[in-house]
Amino acid sequence: MLTDPVGDELMAACPDLRAIANYAVGTDNIDLEAAARRGIPVGNTPDVLTETTADLTLALMLALLRRLRDCEDEVRAGQWLTWEPARLLGRDLHGATVLVVGAGRIGCAVARRLEGFGCRVLTAGRKDPLRPLLGQADVVTLHCPLTPATHGLIGEAELGAMKPSAYLVNTARGPIVDTAALVAALHGARIAGAALDVTDPEPLPADHPLARAPGLLVVPHIASATHATREAMTGMSVDNLLAALRGERMPHCANPEVYDR
Ligand code: DGY
Repeated sequence: MLTDPVGDELMAACPDLRAIANYAVGTDNIDLEAAARRGIPVGNTPDVLTETTADLTLALMLALLRRLRDCEDEVRAGQWLTWEPARLLGRDLHGATVLVVGAGRIGCAVARRLEGFGCRVLTAGRKDPLRPLLGQADVVTLHCPLTPATHGLIGEAELGAMKPSAYLVNTARGPIVDTAALVAALHGARIAGAALDVTDPEPLPADHPLARAPGLLVVPHIASATHATREAMTGMSVDNLLAALRGERMPHCANPEVYDR
């Protein structure tokens, strides 16, 4: 599971280990290089969760901009007494400028959906400077993998470069955002809000300062959680393991250099 760190030490303690199948597309929990050095292929689950993750990203954006949590809280608290012109006003997603950080499979699937919503879509790939783009966006959505280069990619300076009216969405990995900086930005109204499927730490304790920050919508790492997608991820993980145990190439291998050694 993506919650299981698999480092060199663990691999060293398992001399019979022949294959690792990660039940996720992200492999930041596994030392891929150490596995390759030891001749251990690591499987992952690309493609099958792309569209499902993109769907959840749009759901978070809409829920955040239209304040669905506040709206539902009001109804459940019995405060829906009449219709008022200025009650629970949110922001439009259509017409918004959305910066997609990470131009891989999921980032592109999100960008496609946003175009359908009539958004102006900006994309930041690995080599694009982020700061000048951040200031143009009404929504910044993260879709890069967690690597040493993206760890803390969104910190105080980046949050400060966003418009005070802008929102941050993260369905990638928690540590891409500096949690303390995000808490400070939300408390200081330096950004308008954030919607997170992933957090750092994860799971997020209910009494964590981030969980209590204003303008936060948080769900428990469920971007790929549909029946069909989890079933497809299961099938892919099993296929990866069975292939490796038969001595064949894994159909989806995250450290393919293992086969060159
Ligand atoms: C992944 O696969 O990396 C997601 O975070 C969980 O589905």
